[in-house]
Amino acid sequence: MNRNSELIEKPRIAKVASVLDSMITIETQGLPIRKNEVGHICLGKQRIMAEVLRIRGSFADMQVFEDTDGVRVGDNVELTGQMLSAVLGPGLLGQVFDGLENPLHEIAKKHGFFLPRGVDIFPLNQEKKWQFTPSVSMGDKLIAGQAVGTVQEGHILHKIMIPFDEVGNVEILSIQQGNFSLDTPIARIRNSMGVEKDIKMYQRWPIRRPIPELMLRRRIVERCYPVEPMTTTVRIIDTFFPIALGGTACIPGPFGAGKTVLQSLIARYSTVDIVIIVACGERAGEVVETIQEYPCMPDPKTGGTLMDRTVIICNISSMPVAARESSIYTGITIGEYYRQMGYNVLVIADSTSRWAQAMRETSGRMEEIPGEEAFPAYLESSIKNVYERAGVIKTTDGSIGTLTMIGTVSPAGGNFDEPVTQATLATVKNFLGLSSERAYGRFYPAIDPLISWSRYIEQLESWFSKYLDANWTRHVKIMQEMLVKGDSIYQMMQVTGEEGITIEDYTDWQKAVMIDMVYLQQDAYDPIDISMPLERQVESFHLLKSIVDRTYQFEDKEKARDYFTKITSFYKNLNYSSYNSTEFGDYKNKILNYLGEV
Ligand SMILES: Nc1ncnc2c1ncn2[C@@H]1O[C@H](COP(=O)(O)OP(=O)(O)O)[C@@H](O)[C@H]1O
Ligand SMILES: [Mg+2]
Repeated sequence: MNRNSELIEKPRIAKVASVLDSMITIETQGLPIRKNEVGHICLGKQRIMAEVLRIRGSFADMQVFEDTDGVRVGDNVELTGQMLSAVLGPGLLGQVFDGLENPLHEIAKKHGFFLPRGVDIFPLNQEKKWQFTPSVSMGDKLIAGQAVGTVQEGHILHKIMIPFDEVGNVEILSIQQGNFSLDTPIARIRNSMGVEKDIKMYQRWPIRRPIPELMLRRRIVERCYPVEPMTTTVRIIDTFFPIALGGTACIPGPFGAGKTVLQSLIARYSTVDIVIIVACGERAGEVVETIQEYPCMPDPKTGGTLMDRTVIICNISSMPVAARESSIYTGITIGEYYRQMGYNVLVIADSTSRWAQAMRETSGRMEEIPGEEAFPAYLESSIKNVYERAGVIKTTDGSIGTLTMIGTVSPAGGNFDEPVTQATLATVKNFLGLSSERAYGRFYPAIDPLISWSRYIEQLESWFSKYLDANWTRHVKIMQEMLVKGDSIYQMMQVTGEEGITIEDYTDWQKAVMIDMVYLQQDAYDPIDISMPLERQVESFHLLKSIVDRTYQFEDKEKARDYFTKITSFYKNLNYSSYNSTEFGDYKNKILNYLGEV
């Protein structure tokens, strides 16, 4: 070990200069110090973790991840030189972590559900042995992110990769096959600086820095354009407001409008390999619900449980705001890690408003100049930075991985005209706005088709026309126009009454109502209707379109209403029938025959 590395590794000691709730100011006494570096307040035997947020001359402000009771001016703070980092390796899947990647089940086993102060547990199981199969040999030259081998993690083949920050070629000096625990070196490398290093099955990565950032700059990975949809099996999303694999979406909605239910539907049925749920709980009870119910649900794709392909990052209410703020970065970093192996990853954050509020509290304590509604002036750029970590990446192995990011926003009173919603809308490419009127009417999912939008309709057009129907996008637009038309006729009727509009307008309104009832609305409590695969959506859409496209000559409005009531009821039964069953065929025939009669 040379002198320099000794100097870096020796802890540098600063002193607490002031304490304000979960913020402390330290006097650095001329020590070199970095933004976002981690330090520990030494309180007797306890070591309390904190992160440097701002440096001002010989003082620095740190946010403390635990409560600061008993911390006094003059207490020692050990600076580590390390950025706030996540441990990445096999065994992440199926875990529930807090915002600092403390494994909550392990803590529960040892300490009861709540983490005692100063306890820091390694995030992954260090005893478990993993069967490591090398994919390279001695003498091979690799670059950052390339796999040296794999371990089987449940259904996922987990690549063990060259650390993402290695520059240039590294040479494999030795590599071994076998059953190893995480702390056993499985390979030895010499990097481009001539330094020899052990490779273990895990690596650490600073959570605030995107994993591919350096590799992108060196052009050894490539950012690609999202070209494929992420099928959620929620009709209104896949057909009308699609989300791309590697894309971004937000779900704003007032309290009780169904954000959490919709997110868990998406988590359950989407065509992705891995799901990371970041629960910035609105209420503690909700978070507990997520971690108790969700893990037991069967995975429709693999037959195992959902938890096998899921990581939950969850903030228990007793944790200080700083941990809530970091949880989103921890979640995304884990997501990026699996993307780097070539998987399709979905990160969902519920709710980003709570995360933004954590930022606001911290910023307030630092007495930064506040922006709108007391949020920090950098709110918009922070939100942007988070969503920009989504995307499609061609990895150093040549495989394509995607990270799709969906966040809910819970604006007070459901008013979308507030900073967090607005900043999010300026960034994401898909907006699924929930309306309280629709939720109140039990029109679920309560996505309002008149305010929602998706920029992916155009971006995915060639995929849709290749795989669904040559005119898919155009047909969807026509259907959407019918919804808009229906709404304006409805508004008119509010003024003039039913008598005030023509039979043609009345029929169009009935068509729009039918589209809503049989296609936009989807019953999350029906075992079949809860999830409609894309191919069935295409068929259903075409059937619906043939009903909507027809010109009808009804004698009067009552006849028109009766007709659509009846056909709607057949259609709903069709939705409840399992695909291509006898029942399914019967209802489809009923609809077609009925259509022929008019
Ligand atoms: N798709 C749905 N189908 C049926 N009921 C729903 C649906 N979405 C929401 N609900 C009902 O609304 C309630 C509140 O939903 P939730 O997702 O918790 O709202 P939010 O997260 O927006 O506050 C749920 O407990 C459920 O009863
Ligand atoms: Mg909720």
